[in-house]
Amino acid sequence: PAIIVEAVTFALFGATGDLSTRKLFPALYQLDRAGLLNEQTRVLALAREAAPPEAQLARIEQAVRARIAAEEVDESVMQRFIGRLDYLAMDFRRAEDYASLAERVAPDRPLIAYFATPAAVYGAICENLAGAGLAEQSRVVLEKPIGHDLASSKVVNEAVARFFPETRVYRIDHYLGKETVQNLIALRFANSLFETQWDHNHISHVEITVAETVGIEGRWGYFDQAGQLRDMLQNHLLQLLCLTAMDPPSDLAADSIRDEKVKVLKALAPITREQISQRVVRGQYGSGYSGGKPVPGYLEEENANPESSTETFISLRADICNWRWAGVPFYLRTGKRMAQKLSQIVIHFKEPPFYIFAPEQRSLITNRLIIRLQPQEGISLQVMTKEQGLDKGMHLRSGPLQLNFSETYKSSRIPDAYERLLLEVMQGNQNLFVRKDEIEYAWQWCDQLIEGWSRLGDRPKIYPAGSWGPVASIALITRDGRSWYGDL
Ligand code: BG6
Repeated sequence: PAIIVEAVTFALFGATGDLSTRKLFPALYQLDRAGLLNEQTRVLALAREAAPPEAQLARIEQAVRARIAAEEVDESVMQRFIGRLDYLAMDFRRAEDYASLAERVAPDRPLIAYFATPAAVYGAICENLAGAGLAEQSRVVLEKPIGHDLASSKVVNEAVARFFPETRVYRIDHYLGKETVQNLIALRFANSLFETQWDHNHISHVEITVAETVGIEGRWGYFDQAGQLRDMLQNHLLQLLCLTAMDPPSDLAADSIRDEKVKVLKALAPITREQISQRVVRGQYGSGYSGGKPVPGYLEEENANPESSTETFISLRADICNWRWAGVPFYLRTGKRMAQKLSQIVIHFKEPPFYIFAPEQRSLITNRLIIRLQPQEGISLQVMTKEQGLDKGMHLRSGPLQLNFSETYKSSRIPDAYERLLLEVMQGNQNLFVRKDEIEYAWQWCDQLIEGWSRLGDRPKIYPAGSWGPVASIALITRDGRSWYGDL
């Protein structure tokens, strides 16, 4: 590969957790397979369980095999990968346990300390890394959620900042590592065609949907404390909104991009207490169907608290108060147990200023740019053309100009977001990571929603599993004379 990656020690705190087994180890394996791990790179799997290291490594290997496609299993790579691993049982809060960690860290190489643990432990890990003399060489990677509101996120960020400068703190939002999200930057800033149209003069509204078909998947304990606003909207959807709405950065340096994103967050209009019931819909899934099979409602899931009023769905209308976006609503929605796994950004362009075609076809006229993150990643532009045929007259039809990434680049697989993000950390590149002030402005905006809800005291609206959310979410957008694009 063209990229030379320096040797690092990669220490994964929380190595037996869900994220590590589902995403991080498989991503490291894929990097190894692609020749993107330096020969000397070592991986330290750190967790509490005092199990024999061989048994833990065997578990990791099993987890990797379970997560990769059959044709991606390369036995020699697997051997090399497992050979890089070492398991160490430790209590992350105990300073004494860091001595044996320090013994395994190469002194002359960067130490990448990845925190796949609850954020409440981040401060203690940082302090103990510093106590063991490891801080100077470390880059720390923080998983979300960082706190549960502005105040608690500040506590976490400040605890980390006592030992690490911002230039060595990497806050993960895995949506930033997705191929299509990366492509949004290329699309916007490498094509003058779009950028000259990218404002209130030409765009009527924007939709951002991140719909999942999965339910809570045994994560009730975590999820019920968080809810969809904190779990998805505060981070993934607001990041997508920022990348869609930001001004062109002057270069691709991490801080140039982050400065532009922060401006968008600062320009988000607060949603007042009076507006909240019109502008925001909270939902919770009831029983229904997923993939044709009956599934229980949120309150009937294993270990559920039957009284819970945590939302599993949220949709809202956001407005950005600046020159570019005045009067252009951004409709955001995200939910669990929805009709389809679908993540997309839809840019709706305004109608032409003067209309010369048959009046009954007027409602057809619209250009849309659809940036699809999943399932099939791709970009399509809906354009108006004429129907073909002698008997058709000037009949219009709306059709897509498409770029389907998995079709276009058939030979190369689309890497998982975590592969890209881990590679970026190893290269010391902060572009795709979230700066402290971004997190804080995002929380500030979300806090006012949480506060507004708690004053209203409403329970979330129930929607059947396998649907597009509560009816009120449809009303939210039809009230403005529009509809959610692509709902079947
Ligand atoms: C995570 C959330 O950040 O993103 C999960 O905690 C969610 O609840 C997941 O399921 C969705 O990620 P993706 O990449 O599958 O869209």
